[in-house]
Amino acid sequence: MCGIVGYIGFRNATDVLLKTLKRLEYRGYDSAGIAVVNGELKVEKRKGYIDTIKSDFKGTVGIGHTRWATHGVPSDENAHPFVDCKGEIAIVHNGIIENFMELKEKLIEKGHVFKSDTDSEVIAHLIEEYYEDSFKDAFIKAVNELKGSFAIAAVMKGQRRIMAAKNESPLVIGIGDHENFIASDIPAFLEYTNRVIVLKDGEICEVTDDFVNIYDLKGNEVKESITTIDWSVEDAEKSGYEHFMLKEIFEQPRALEDTLHALLSKDMPEMDFERVHIVACGTSYHAGLTGKYIIEELLHVPVYVYYASEYRYMPEIEEKALTIFITQSGETADTIGAAKRAKDLGNYTMAITNVVGSSITNYVDQVLYTNAGPEIGVAATKTFTTQLMVLYYFSIIFASKKGKISKKKANELLKELQKTGYYVERVLGEEDNIKKVAREIASAQSMYFIARGRNYPIALEGALKMKEISYVHAEGYPAGELKHGPIALISDNMPVIAIVPEDELYGKMISNIKEVSARNAFVVAVSSNNDVKKYADTVISIPKTNYLFSPFTNAVALQLLSYHTAKILGRKIDKPKNLAKTVTVE
Ligand code: F6R
Repeated sequence: MCGIVGYIGFRNATDVLLKTLKRLEYRGYDSAGIAVVNGELKVEKRKGYIDTIKSDFKGTVGIGHTRWATHGVPSDENAHPFVDCKGEIAIVHNGIIENFMELKEKLIEKGHVFKSDTDSEVIAHLIEEYYEDSFKDAFIKAVNELKGSFAIAAVMKGQRRIMAAKNESPLVIGIGDHENFIASDIPAFLEYTNRVIVLKDGEICEVTDDFVNIYDLKGNEVKESITTIDWSVEDAEKSGYEHFMLKEIFEQPRALEDTLHALLSKDMPEMDFERVHIVACGTSYHAGLTGKYIIEELLHVPVYVYYASEYRYMPEIEEKALTIFITQSGETADTIGAAKRAKDLGNYTMAITNVVGSSITNYVDQVLYTNAGPEIGVAATKTFTTQLMVLYYFSIIFASKKGKISKKKANELLKELQKTGYYVERVLGEEDNIKKVAREIASAQSMYFIARGRNYPIALEGALKMKEISYVHAEGYPAGELKHGPIALISDNMPVIAIVPEDELYGKMISNIKEVSARNAFVVAVSSNNDVKKYADTVISIPKTNYLFSPFTNAVALQLLSYHTAKILGRKIDKPKNLAKTVTVE
């Protein structure tokens, strides 16, 4: 996810571009850059935040970019805009060009020289390749060559127009008086205009000071209507959601699909291992613990999961293991310290992270990325389920490579994995019922979350989410452990959130529900089985999935439960007290 902007009109383009980009910084902040046309084309771009761009280019036409790295580490060279060989055409891009290698090779054969590792740079060279005498025609021809997702804006020396195109990445046009705007999201230009055209996939747009022409991929004109927006700038940044956390919860179907898509388009690294250690903190630790159940079930190798802060200071273990570090930020001090130690001890190491080029990537042998896009809410949501996605994918691929499951079985499981976005979407459809349940439990002083097997880590994660954003005391337990102590604390109406998937442990969970019900707990069952209504006080219904994949749907239901509980209690949901998004201290 990156942010792109464009401006053409009577104001100083540099000022408008920097201001509008700033409003998109939540979409990524690895690097930033602008290109301004004033007869000549001028470009300034740099690794780091938008504030590092200090240019005072004069001109009233330009484009800008703030980057969330996907192809190529964050660096000055990989920052947008990219220019063609002559430095006359500049482009900015959000998305992934899937056929960029093929296009790049062809362009290199024709003499084009590339300066970055990104997929985006090919777009500037393609336009140059097609340019004869019309910038618009060359742009349309170039866009027709691209496969993948993109929102693109381009400018050219000596031209008073911006060309733009959209496919599967957002792009909106802001309509002003003798000025027009382009952006990935409406909030970018909302202080200048609230009249917008939302481009559709496969549309190309030519924007000048006084008109906006929209074309299909063949260059035929298309009519699109103008919508008037009545949101405030702040509402618009969250795309109308009240909090970033809720927006990010709702982004999960897309984030899961993007993550799987990226994994499927890459070869898995070759690795040989007899045992696995997983090291992480907080929510990432819970993803690792879920991974343990899945890896052990599919690969039949032992998996040990450690808190990074503990792993760092453990006595040396003789046996070597594939050691996997999970960290959404890639910057958590304990996890980085643990990765250094694992390497010093001679282990083969791998990281799962959401941030390309983050510190953890420097300390491991292999990296697998989640493709969740930036997560602003302090509570991890979409980064958690996309971590699960990577772990499931890893387990299926290596179980097949190691001959632990047949190719046919692996393909069946991959097909199921592809459906997780759809099932998560259906859980999101249960929001109203979950809100109702939140009202029933919000006055509690304390709660338990219980589950068994592969959903036990989801109970831990449900309790962590509840604690961190609602400030209600919550603990997660393996359901069978309650009778060994924690059941002593069950009092009248204390909520017990029981995860009851339709798997091999369903009957055992029902017995555990009966145990807490008998002590007057208020039982909330999260289940796809209607029968559970007989035993629970209230039910959060979720869709039935293949038993192996139930952690995804259960996790999302519990994210919504903690979100709505915190909202009822009036908490600062996106920035809970005492917490930080990235923990760079020990
Ligand atoms: C909880 C949460 C934290 C993080 C933990 C590790 O919602 O976000 O528990 O999971 O601080 O952070 P990363 O994954 O960045 O290493």
